Amino acid sequence: MKNFYLENYGCQMNKADSNSLINSLMQEGFIQTEDYQNADNIIINTCSVRAHAEERVFSKVKLFNAERKKNKKNTKLIIMGCMAQTSKNILENLGVDKIFDVYNETNILDYMKDEEVFIKKFNDNYIFNKSYVDKDKPHKAFLPISHGCNNWCSYCIVPHTRGKMVSRKSSEIIEEVKRLIESGAKEITLLGQNVNSYGLDIENEISFTDLLYLIDKTIDKTVGNNKIWIRFLTSHPKDFDKDLADAIWNLRSVGKHIHLPFQSGSNRILKLMNRKYDKEEYIKKISYLREYADDFPISTDIIVGYADETEEEYKETLDLLKEIGFEDAYLYKYSEREGSIAYKKKVKYDEKVGSERLRELVDFQRVLAQKLLNKQVGKRSEIMIDDTAKDNIHYQCRSKENRLILVKKEKELNMGDIYDCEITEIKNHTLIGEII
Ligand code: 5AD
Ligand code: SF4
Repeated sequence: MKNFYLENYGCQMNKADSNSLINSLMQEGFIQTEDYQNADNIIINTCSVRAHAEERVFSKVKLFNAERKKNKKNTKLIIMGCMAQTSKNILENLGVDKIFDVYNETNILDYMKDEEVFIKKFNDNYIFNKSYVDKDKPHKAFLPISHGCNNWCSYCIVPHTRGKMVSRKSSEIIEEVKRLIESGAKEITLLGQNVNSYGLDIENEISFTDLLYLIDKTIDKTVGNNKIWIRFLTSHPKDFDKDLADAIWNLRSVGKHIHLPFQSGSNRILKLMNRKYDKEEYIKKISYLREYADDFPISTDIIVGYADETEEEYKETLDLLKEIGFEDAYLYKYSEREGSIAYKKKVKYDEKVGSERLRELVDFQRVLAQKLLNKQVGKRSEIMIDDTAKDNIHYQCRSKENRLILVKKEKELNMGDIYDCEITEIKNHTLIGEII
């Protein structure tokens, strides 16, 4: 029986693809191994959003290549994910066997089973893979609802690597939701590069907001209200509206949290980034949620140092962080991606300035987030048991608002169960709660 070794880099979408591939390979009789030196197949699911992840992949490819030469094993070295597009030539030169530039599980399976059959069956049509519950946390599942992106943010490589947005049929999504529920999923995260432009590419397809209503109804009919939580990633501010905010707030199964990247507090930079909204619109859209709850948790992504961002423009980003208050923010300095619009247009940036601003931003945001977290002490929330905490005396949980909360492990509780909880204190920057 053949085995395979798989390494995953990057976003939740990659994780979901890897998880799905692992399940399909095992169903085909392949065995997963942690021992790459004796693997028949080595698969690397790659990410090119930042240079650091790419460099790690290059060094791994070199290592695996040296290893398979030394072992004289006929190991297949397979690359999938974004670097298949961005670094095809380099990877080919490094001597990998096969690069799957359009991720398609069937193709990879066919290739691993029989190369000739694979070549015959190869087709470019995008097929959504079946989703599976997470291998390590089987109460969680990730469900891709769209693939690719039409937004063409100038700094970003994704539209070039993943292609135009393709939405999955809503009927298929509902079938997947039902299947995942049957497999034991208690939290389903809908995935897409831009989830809230879901359906716009298909005539007569429902909108993302309507999809949330439909999924909520399906959950209610199958297992009853609030037994299963729905989350979604990533939303784009340009497609966020009052209807979506109302759905998030009113639907019982939907987590009360949103990840809404604003990228920059400067309107000049936003325009150059081709983000299609300005600071004022972003603030207005956030207010739809904050009118429901003034502590409605929002997380975001920020890039500093793009397009020779001035000190003044960078300060506008700091001001926006302060004005809105994000409990979580993913902070980046601009990293030039070969093939992106910014690369072609030779958009200017200063690496050193980016690094300095990023360092300062991290500290700035940490203080803001801590202040927001402090305000949660004494509040109540529903939580889902996620895991045993590292200290082994707590359970690690997520509130419906996606806040990380630890609760004392007084008796055995099931992962994926939902309880009411009161937040009692903060220890080492982490919320501690008690089940009530
Ligand atoms: N440089 C820095 N950050 C980037 N991101 C995407 N492309 C780049 C880039 N070229 C960040 C954005 C995006 C997140 C997933 O990664 O903030 O929202
Ligand atoms: Fe990249 Fe923009 Fe698409 Fe996100 S929305 S994947 S940042 S092009």
